[in-house]
Amino acid sequence: MVFHQKNIISISDFSKDDIEYILRLSEKMEPIARSKKQSNVLSGKILGMLFYEPSTRTRLSFEAAMKRLGGSTIGFAEANVSSTTKGENLTDTVKIVGEYSDAIVIRHNMEGTARFASSVVDVPVINAGDGAGQHPTQTLLDLYTMKRVLGKIDELHVALVGDLKYGRTVHSLAYALAMFDVKMSFVSPPELKMPNGIVHDLNKAGVSINETNDIHSVLEDSDVLYVTRIQKERFPDPEEYSKIKGAYRIDKKLVEDTDLIVMHPLPRVDEISYDVDNTKYGKYFEQAFYGVPVRMALLKSIIDSFE
Ligand code: CP
Repeated sequence: MVFHQKNIISISDFSKDDIEYILRLSEKMEPIARSKKQSNVLSGKILGMLFYEPSTRTRLSFEAAMKRLGGSTIGFAEANVSSTTKGENLTDTVKIVGEYSDAIVIRHNMEGTARFASSVVDVPVINAGDGAGQHPTQTLLDLYTMKRVLGKIDELHVALVGDLKYGRTVHSLAYALAMFDVKMSFVSPPELKMPNGIVHDLNKAGVSINETNDIHSVLEDSDVLYVTRIQKERFPDPEEYSKIKGAYRIDKKLVEDTDLIVMHPLPRVDEISYDVDNTKYGKYFEQAFYGVPVRMALLKSIIDSFE
C-alpha cells in the first residue's frame, strides 16, 4: 500500500507487507513515544477527532501520537458538545471538520460510518471503531504487542475469548491473523460466537478455526489469550446480557503454570481479575501503551507529505 492520503477503514485495507511495514516503523517511533527522542515531522498538521462513542485509549493515544510528532488535534469526545445536538447531520459535520484538518479519526456506534465519512471528504479517514464492525488501528497495536512481547506473529496459537459476536477488535484481529501462519481458537458462549460471515471468510482463506466454549481446553496450547469484554451496549435485550455476563473470568490461578500471555483491548469490567495485572502473564497495559507508537507510525505514513 502507498499509505500517503489513504483511508484506513478495515484491516482488509492492508496486506501482510503493509502491516509489517507499519510494525517496523512503530519500533522506530517507540523512543519518541517514550519521550526519549523528539520529532516535529507533523508540525503544522491537524488531526480531526470525531468521537460519537466513548473512548479512553483510542482517542488519547491518537492525540498523544499526533502531539509527539509535533502536530495538533481538534474535535470532540462526545457528540452532545457538537452541533449534532442542534440537528446537524453526520455528512455536514464530517465535511466541515475535513476543511479544518489534514486527516479525520472517527468512532461511531453505527457500522459503516467510517466508510461513509470517507466518501464525503477529501482528507483521509481513519476508523477508530464502527459499532460491532471493525477497529483496524487496535489490531495493528495488538499485532505489534505480540511481536514485541513474543518476538513473532507467525507460528503463534492465539485464542480469542469472550464476546466474539459484537467485539469489533476481534473481528479485525481475526482477519489480520489470517494473513499470518497462526493457529486460531475462538472461545465464547454459544450466543456470542464469531459471526458466520467472518468464519466463512477465514475458512475460504484456508484458515482452520477451533471453536469452543471451554476455555480450559485452550490453555495448555495457546501463546496468547486475547480476552474481550462482553459488549453490554450492543445487546438489543438487556436480559440477554444479564444471562451471559461473567461467562469467563481469567484469574491468576487459571493461567498459572501456562506459557501464555493475556492481552485485552480494554476497558475490562470483570473478565480479568486484578491479580493477573502484575504477573508475567498480564500484558494489557503494555499493549495499551503500544497504541501510541503504532498510531504515530500510521499518522506519519498517511499525513506526512514527504512519505
Ligand atoms: N481499546 C479501545 O478501543 O479502548 P477505548 O474504547 O478506551 O478507546
